[in-house]
Amino acid sequence: MKILFLADVFGVPGRRAVEEQLPALRERYDADLAIVNGENAADGAGITAKLADKLLAAGADVVTLGNHTYRRGGIASYLATSERVIRPANSGSEAPGHGLAVVEARNGVAVAVLNLLGQLFLPTPVSPWEMVDKLVEEARAAAPVVFLDFHAEATSEKVALATWLDGRVTAVVGTHTHVQTSDARVLPGGTAAITDAGMTGPHHSVIGVKSELAISRMRNRQPVRFEPAEGGVRLEGVVVTCNDDGKARGIEAIRIDA
Ligand SMILES: [Fe+2]
Repeated sequence: MKILFLADVFGVPGRRAVEEQLPALRERYDADLAIVNGENAADGAGITAKLADKLLAAGADVVTLGNHTYRRGGIASYLATSERVIRPANSGSEAPGHGLAVVEARNGVAVAVLNLLGQLFLPTPVSPWEMVDKLVEEARAAAPVVFLDFHAEATSEKVALATWLDGRVTAVVGTHTHVQTSDARVLPGGTAAITDAGMTGPHHSVIGVKSELAISRMRNRQPVRFEPAEGGVRLEGVVVTCNDDGKARGIEAIRIDA
């Protein structure tokens, strides 16, 4: 079976690209399931209930999030009841929402989708290492195929977690940096991995933000209100191929001009 994943959907340009292209991409890659990271959908930081529903309506079976999960008003109560829009499992015991979704793919196979935050260079409430084993156990009890979106800054942490989980999950796909890495591979135990799947959004930018604004904040050290860029829109992510028992057979990084 095949799982299509689209990385960090950024602002209006990213969301439009998903709405316009996800149905055709599902067909092109013969995807049994589509997962979309939506943590930058609302103007580059966070997501609203309305935008989450739009991503689901566009053809995403599950939406994952990240460090900007709770940036927008109203999203906490939405996440508390949503089965298909999940936030990092290590967001803290009081944080509204779920870190695990179990859905049925087109071919009838159950897939567990997990979302975790890295702890290096991010203000993460709970170490992913403290809870990942139990979380994976819970996921494997519910579904043979387990897909983890590991939203983290550091390449080392993402490679380490994929290696730690090799043979126990189908895929460990890194997100958050918005720059796709060239290390998509299946590890020896049968886990597909990539350090970062990239960004679905405007690539003529500094990781999605209008370049002049991002550069100005860095050069002048003054507060600048970030705005999403517009040009160079590309859909980036991966297609994971796996057996129905959850063992990965392949992973292909994708980059498609919108
Ligand atoms: Fe992020």
